[in-house]
Amino acid sequence: MNTLEQTMEELIAEGKQYLIPTYNPLPIVLERGEGCYVWDTNGKKYLDLVAGIAVNSLGGNHPAVVKAIQEQAAQIIHCSNLYWIKPQIKLAKLLVEKSGLDKAFFCNSGAEANEAAIKLARKWGQGEKYEIITLEKSFHGRTLGSLAATGQEKYQKAFRPLPAGFSAVPAGDLTALEQEIRPTTCAIMLEIIQGEGGINLPSPEYLQGIQELCQKYKLLLIIDEVQTGMGRTGKAFAFQHYGLKPDIISIAKALGNGVPLGAIAAKAEIADCFTPGDHGTTFGGNPLATAAGLASAEILLADDFLAQVTANGTYFQNALKDLQAQHPDKIADVRGLGLMLGCELTINAKDVSAQLLKQGVLVNTIGEHILRFVPPLIITKTEIDEFISLFKDILN
Ligand SMILES: Cc1ncc(COP(=O)(O)O)c(C=O)c1O
Repeated sequence: MNTLEQTMEELIAEGKQYLIPTYNPLPIVLERGEGCYVWDTNGKKYLDLVAGIAVNSLGGNHPAVVKAIQEQAAQIIHCSNLYWIKPQIKLAKLLVEKSGLDKAFFCNSGAEANEAAIKLARKWGQGEKYEIITLEKSFHGRTLGSLAATGQEKYQKAFRPLPAGFSAVPAGDLTALEQEIRPTTCAIMLEIIQGEGGINLPSPEYLQGIQELCQKYKLLLIIDEVQTGMGRTGKAFAFQHYGLKPDIISIAKALGNGVPLGAIAAKAEIADCFTPGDHGTTFGGNPLATAAGLASAEILLADDFLAQVTANGTYFQNALKDLQAQHPDKIADVRGLGLMLGCELTINAKDVSAQLLKQGVLVNTIGEHILRFVPPLIITKTEIDEFISLFKDILN
């Protein structure tokens, strides 16, 4: 049968037969995206508040990104890091300017960016300092190194033994963190807002305390900006809300607006600990991915764009808080920063998400009670209103 004639149900059945079941996808096949909307193969339209998990910050087919990909694909798609790559150099320069760090390295995903950060911290530690302290409920990826850094037993337990040299302490507790520091510790690694962990925001005092501990014990501060970076919270990087001075940041998700692309940026004296041969990847930072990344970053990191994310994020959060005031029995908490928002329900979040799916809205759930909203950053107040009105009907 011609695949074009298959129904959505037939396609899904085929997927179940041929794909290793690492995911449990919702029963729709998406085939098109424009702005904040996506369409399934039946032509049904959805308001997308997931954005491919905080990736499609400019929506599914932003003209500037499409143009950059088309033009780059017509020139050269890949050439490897055996040669200099123009869009990679330009994107590194932009990330350095916007982060206040000095040098960048490119890879293909968030987990790989964290692997690079971990290896760089260990190289800096010269074999004497190699242990990294992370936080409970953190999420840093699923490769063995980034999984060892992830402070969630449920992701780790089936895959032990994990690489040694990682320990997770409870978030918010500076005493526990300080007690964990040893002469062999090289770094503290954390997300500013824990995404997969449930949209958990730290206090500014806690973050300031971590910065001071890093200075006191000469440790590197590694900030995982994979989900919070590239404008998601209304600043280029979330650490900039708190005046922190990280030594290394990891970036991915929205960096390529859907083309797989990750990166780290680091201070020069740390970055230069890596010498040729220490680290690398065949695809990382290739011409196609960095052309998409450069076109995306030029839009996402512009001051007026970030101001709009802040304004619309506040509007969205206030609208959710109004709903909470009307339904305190169903909404326990609303939290987040910019357009990275969480709504903690007392009712089952998956049931709510299933009802929203029927109504044509995509939302993500974390655990049993949290709805996570990480929409395209181009979302408008009208689209936010559209969602709030449907959510209100469901709550009623
Ligand atoms: C904070 C954070 N770090 C790392 C990762 C891993 O990124 P990837 O799935 O691209 O490997 C994620 C993914 O959700 C993340 O949210």
